[in-house]
Amino acid sequence: SIIVLDYGSQYNQLITRRIRDLGIYSELLPHTTTAAQIKTMAPKGIILSGGPNSVYDAAAFKIDPAIWQLGIPILGICYGMQLMMMELGGQVEAAGEPEYGHADIQITKPDSLLFHNLPSQQFVWMSHGDRVTALPADFETVAISANTPYAVVENAKQRLYGIQFHAEVRNTEYGLDILKNFAFQICKAQANWSMQDFIQQQIDQIRQTVGKRKVLLGLSGGVDSSVVGVLLHKAIGNQLTSIFVDHGLLRKGEAKQVMDSLEGKFGLNIIKVDAQERFLSKLKGISDPEQKRKIIGNEFIQVFNDEAQKLEGIDFLAQGTLYTDVIESGTSTAQTIKSHHNVGGLPKDMHFQLIEPLRTLFKDEVRELGERLGMPHDLVWRQPFPGPGLGIRVIGEVTPEKLKMVRDSDYILREEIKNAGLEKEIWQYFTVLPGMRSVGVMGDGRTYDYTIGIRAVTSIDGMTADFAQIPWQVLAKISTRITNEVDHVNRVVYDITSKPPATIEWE
Ligand code: XMP
Repeated sequence: SIIVLDYGSQYNQLITRRIRDLGIYSELLPHTTTAAQIKTMAPKGIILSGGPNSVYDAAAFKIDPAIWQLGIPILGICYGMQLMMMELGGQVEAAGEPEYGHADIQITKPDSLLFHNLPSQQFVWMSHGDRVTALPADFETVAISANTPYAVVENAKQRLYGIQFHAEVRNTEYGLDILKNFAFQICKAQANWSMQDFIQQQIDQIRQTVGKRKVLLGLSGGVDSSVVGVLLHKAIGNQLTSIFVDHGLLRKGEAKQVMDSLEGKFGLNIIKVDAQERFLSKLKGISDPEQKRKIIGNEFIQVFNDEAQKLEGIDFLAQGTLYTDVIESGTSTAQTIKSHHNVGGLPKDMHFQLIEPLRTLFKDEVRELGERLGMPHDLVWRQPFPGPGLGIRVIGEVTPEKLKMVRDSDYILREEIKNAGLEKEIWQYFTVLPGMRSVGVMGDGRTYDYTIGIRAVTSIDGMTADFAQIPWQVLAKISTRITNEVDHVNRVVYDITSKPPATIEWE
């Protein structure tokens, strides 16, 4: 494997992702990981991520200095490079002008393995406020840019490398090739990580952890928990009981679809709980997004506890937590962006041990896993759906009337996207109810009614996204149908922001 130490950059998951795409297992670990811990994992290489701090700040994230002595190749990216320079005797200072965006680099040491078979001039993506002003002894310059004589540096003998730019983002022309060179030329890693191995590993691990005991799974209606269900069923058969909580925040027709497929086709043992009233009454009067998320998460677990108590001897709770949930919930160095349902809502007095077999996977890896488990294509390729469901698509307070507007408009949107054959092209599409009203005219009368927002994005892993460019005729049809068919909606708007700066969901 190649491990990535997390210094808090928003791009740090992408590094992990890119390495896995090369067929090498990669994990993001806290920057506090010690040399001794790394030694037991025996990775082929270490990458130090970027980060928002300055290496010379008193509170700056450090590194266990024994890591430099492990003899494992290290690549420092941006902050990671500056940390390497500073710790090994070089110098880092504020750049005066921060450098942000495209830069041209010129390779001055063509025999560097990092640029093996790559052109001597290339575009890279810079994003830094500090820069290296002096190299430690034994380091050489590999590439320069107009703004820095130390765009890339190396100590080839000790296999220590530093790049000032972000190789993991697509805006860096040969970014993937540079990571590839690091992995294969320098670390001599082998491309032998595959989903098939992952399945077998997980099944073995689940069997070992669970033994003869019983597991309870929360099915949410989304891809993730469904995949967990099928995986667990494969590992431990009917030691698994699933509870499908219909929290009343699901899309139209979804509850039935889940039951038909997982219970009907796969034979999972599912208890369906109709908890609409319970969730709605807890959400009454609450309009703060984070509070709503926490309430829904907590309630979900409590419904579980209630149901589990009716069952005999359950020891484990399984969840479809993904890597993105884990990291965006601020369990790592990265800042908390939203508290995700699966992670944020866990009460402290929880009675179960957790099993989260997808914890290290990205969304598209979960889909691949689902396919390999033989799950139906349309279930596996269902667009992502957040745990808190329509509860975070009704902006502000959730009421049954508002839920109905979102649910009905969402159904129309889905139908028309399907009719237009755009399902595969658009990564995620849904409607939101901003909760504002505006003036309209219908027949001869004035109306004062709600607005529906359409959100449709293209993305690979949900970490970044662009708004989807749905053809005007399709949008026109959707708009007409929504205003005609959904009561109390007199206006439809289209969200044309990417992520960042917006997020995909509105709450
Ligand atoms: P954002 O809105 O943060 O969403 O750009 C990124 C992706 O995550 C989904 N999402 C969630 N998934 N539990 C989940 O399982 C959650 O609480 C949650 N919140 C957002 C969102 O739909 C998008 O695909």
